Amino acid sequence: MGGSTGKDVEARTVVFGITGGIAAYKAPLIIRALKGASLNVHVVMTEDARHFVTELTLQTLAGTPVHCEMFGNVNTQWYEIEHISLADRADLFLIAPATANFLAKLSCGLADDLLSCACLATRAPILVCPSMNVNMLTNRATQENLETLRRRGVHILDPVSGELACGWEGAGRMPDPERIVAEVKKLLSKGDLTGIKVLVTCGPTCEDIDPVRYITNRSTGKMGCAIVEAACLRGAQVKVISGPVALSFAPWAEIIQVRTASQMLDAVMEQLQEADVLIMAAAVADYVPSRYSSTKIKKGTKGTTLELSSSPDILATIRPQKESKVFVGFAAETENIRNYAQEKMRRKGLDMIVANRVGTIGSGFGSDTNSGVVLSPEGVLYDFEHMAKDTLAHKILDFVKERL
Ligand code: CTP
Repeated sequence: MGGSTGKDVEARTVVFGITGGIAAYKAPLIIRALKGASLNVHVVMTEDARHFVTELTLQTLAGTPVHCEMFGNVNTQWYEIEHISLADRADLFLIAPATANFLAKLSCGLADDLLSCACLATRAPILVCPSMNVNMLTNRATQENLETLRRRGVHILDPVSGELACGWEGAGRMPDPERIVAEVKKLLSKGDLTGIKVLVTCGPTCEDIDPVRYITNRSTGKMGCAIVEAACLRGAQVKVISGPVALSFAPWAEIIQVRTASQMLDAVMEQLQEADVLIMAAAVADYVPSRYSSTKIKKGTKGTTLELSSSPDILATIRPQKESKVFVGFAAETENIRNYAQEKMRRKGLDMIVANRVGTIGSGFGSDTNSGVVLSPEGVLYDFEHMAKDTLAHKILDFVKERL
């Protein structure tokens, strides 16, 4: 299987254009994040950008020389036409920040410096991150230029609202470097799940005893979050039903927050109809307090007994609605991993189960890596040992794709 390992964006080349706005101060962080995603980075700066950030900083981080001048560097060892060579080597052009002036040039097709020439010459997708004063942004000239660019297929990552460096409040701030690089990764991804609707459950559930206390488990939601991100990057339309977690989900996913097992069941039932795939990564409580006390239970002098009832088994409940949907379950086990997981897969009518080891370092709850096995009714699909959760997420999606 030549499937995606999540590494399909690795080693691709981003030509990173920086124009002369104050948000250029974030450029070094963008380069760090691009390199962190194992992308090759070639930086082009406009003359004005050089007022805000130094070539030395940028080329030290990028590991490649910064390109500035149209007729500058003449290499004595080989000759290449710089703007064409940049245009041709790019898998993607990222312009961040993109000033009002640069957007105007791009929309008019002007080519009066190295960056605008290269943008005109490239056949690679272009992503621009407009950043400027709110009044410059909302000016009809800028809005019409953005509209023209959008119509031509240029990707635009809208600026966010907040306090602007010029003192005004409003839209015009460049999004954070992580957000920009997430967009880059999505554009570079092959989008092999485009059109597929994926529903993911994630995190623990919390079952309240009284206004002070509750029962929960050790799930942090990291695995579910990795699946959400991987599916979004590959073009799927993703909804996530999440118990309480301290994570930020991929910006493209729709998030439905729940607290208890029974709220999660309701949300799954509501969303299932339109999903093609359900991935139940949540660690749903098996037992919930039989009664909720609306006032704090006082300690008293003796111990107390907490009466618990079984929670609804979500997968078992929705089994009749499975139809041709792909259902993936998870099994968190401390022992007998394969046997327990196989039994759960059969009992819950799943197409696949991801059994992972919990209770050891480097696997399961809270860890960035996981160890275990992916099973289908036909047998073992994949054994994994200390695998990064984002890589495992792509592997799981490869198996899902085969079943669609
Ligand atoms: N699950 C569910 N509803 C529950 C409990 C679990 O749908 N009330 C789902 C989980 O999201 C997971 C799979 O079932 O995808 C297996 O969960 P797990 O807790 O490992 O299994 P249980 O069926 O609860 O069995 P046990 O706790 O005895 O191992």
